[in-house]
Amino acid sequence: MRVFFTGGSGKAGRHVLPYLVAAGHRVLNFDRVPLNAAGVHDLLGDITDAGQVYSAMNSHAGYDELETGQGARPFDAVVHFAAVPRMMMCPDTETWRVNVVGTYNVLEAAVKMGIRKIIIASSETTYGICFSDGVTDPHSLPLTEDYDIDPMDTYGTTKKVNEVTARSLARRSGADIYALRIGNVVEPHEYATLFPKYFADPGLRRRNAFNYIDARDLGQIVDLCLKKDGLGYQVFNACNSTNGMNLPNAELLARFFPGVPVTEELGPWESLMSNRKAREVLGFVDRHDWRDEVPPDLRP
Ligand SMILES: NC(=O)c1ccc[n+]([C@@H]2O[C@H](COP(=O)([O-])OP(=O)(O)OC[C@H]3O[C@@H](n4cnc5c(N)ncnc54)[C@H](O)[C@@H]3O)[C@@H](O)[C@H]2O)c1
Repeated sequence: MRVFFTGGSGKAGRHVLPYLVAAGHRVLNFDRVPLNAAGVHDLLGDITDAGQVYSAMNSHAGYDELETGQGARPFDAVVHFAAVPRMMMCPDTETWRVNVVGTYNVLEAAVKMGIRKIIIASSETTYGICFSDGVTDPHSLPLTEDYDIDPMDTYGTTKKVNEVTARSLARRSGADIYALRIGNVVEPHEYATLFPKYFADPGLRRRNAFNYIDARDLGQIVDLCLKKDGLGYQVFNACNSTNGMNLPNAELLARFFPGVPVTEELGPWESLMSNRKAREVLGFVDRHDWRDEVPPDLRP
């Protein structure tokens, strides 16, 4: 597919884009800064400028497309990752402007151009634990897509609002719009730099409900979403199948979430943010479990 990808130069995108290219997609990266990846043209621009978004989304994907003589044209799919990706990077008002206005611009342009497949980056933070002021409990575990998400911070709230916008535009247009509640993204080198700290101090991971998503496995989920048609508006948790922790659920629940109702059967190591829907509906099988990625001398 010809894919218009926003925010591909960031932490997640620099692994997801190569995955999509390797899977045979043609990808144009729309970002404020270049990715400089093989086979990907960088088109520099700003998602908060609707004119730029409309123009960019109706474009050649690279200079080679000039040879076809088909002209600039809309893409087959849009993957929207560009955002302020957490709280306290900039003032909350700016996070709101970039994430809410920018996402509206991308979604509106895509459906008005007749693009039928759109994937947006939502977040684990919508579950309201990650950026809570104070240590708060989830209503229940595991975290599933039908949870009544209630973030209290601005960043998480922008992602919740974007899910509402996506649902509205999917209903209006009939396009497939899939929102990925992305877990804590881990790049390959971070298994060595971060996981030993998590093993030494498990409480560091409570706000993420101990989940993680390998950035390459996130690429697989995006690819599976591109290939899966006809679901209308959907939300998928995008995380790996086990917790990113060397403690079983019985211990994690007793130490960190005592009193939180467990509403579904949970395997001893199964992720407390459930990816069951992605596995059952999309056919996701994670390929990068931390047990295979953390160097042996750094494992507990
Ligand atoms: N990293 C995580 O753990 C995580 C977890 C859950 C959800 N997410 C979401 O996944 C997406 C990607 O996250 P990331 O970690 O790669 O973030 P990142 O900040 O590393 O990358 C985001 C990219 O968006 C671009 N961008 C920002 N504002 C822009 C604008 N106005 N116009 C055009 N481009 C702009 C940035 O230049 C950057 O390259 C984001 O939507 C983020 O909210 C990330």
